Amino acid sequence: VDRSEKMAIWIASLLMVSFSAALVYAFVGLNIRFPGCVTDKTPFTKGKVIQRGVGEYEVQLVAKMWAFEPSEIEIPVGSKVDLYLSSLDVNHGFQIKFTNVNLMAVPGTVNYAQVTFDKPGDYPLICHEYCGAGHQNMMGKIRVKAREDSLSGAVPQSDVGIEQAKTHEAPTLNESDLALLAAKGCTACHSLDGTRMVGPSLKGIFGGEEELEDGSKLTVNEDYIRESIKNPMAKIVKGYPKVMVAMPMTDQELEKLIEIVKGIR
Ligand code: CUA
Repeated sequence: VDRSEKMAIWIASLLMVSFSAALVYAFVGLNIRFPGCVTDKTPFTKGKVIQRGVGEYEVQLVAKMWAFEPSEIEIPVGSKVDLYLSSLDVNHGFQIKFTNVNLMAVPGTVNYAQVTFDKPGDYPLICHEYCGAGHQNMMGKIRVKAREDSLSGAVPQSDVGIEQAKTHEAPTLNESDLALLAAKGCTACHSLDGTRMVGPSLKGIFGGEEELEDGSKLTVNEDYIRESIKNPMAKIVKGYPKVMVAMPMTDQELEKLIEIVKGIR
């Protein structure tokens, strides 16, 4: 064994020892545990937001061509969210802007991230993995609401739906009606002035006829509106994505919403 070989053996051993020491130090000293990105949770097929406590949420997010489900999530500021992500079809990317959450949605597996939203505002959800023709349209939003911006509070200024309603359609709806529609997320996807958005416009919907996915037709009455709010997947209007989620609300709020929708002419 000549000198250079001895040297190489020493350096290699030193590197191995310092690498092992760094691992032990990270574990014991810095309290870093093994990455927990991939979970053993069973893959799910429906998107869900579950409130587990005050300011604590579990979000089960489904990625599919070409939407996230739920596509819009509203939580109060300061919320801690355990986020589980799965895919129904192909690999999708998943990034929450303004946070360090960046995952892949992989069919058959569930990935995990935890994030706390300390600042109010809109956090766009973006698919950053090319997943087919509609890839560039695949996005969503987490709306983190400031504390005052609750049911009885002021109308959120950033809400496009409300701005439209104010300029084109205000007469039949008062501020508290609009605030309720916004607080329950309705106006994020349903316009009040006939504009096509994610879901059917609410303008003149009551008493009209809708064609459903399966080709059947129905007349929009109170029961249909009630069902659509409580159980959005029960009947899907033809040509619209299955993305609506049931928002938590009291029976009074539900009946009030039905009254409001009836009045949107
Ligand atoms: Cu999903 Cu790109």
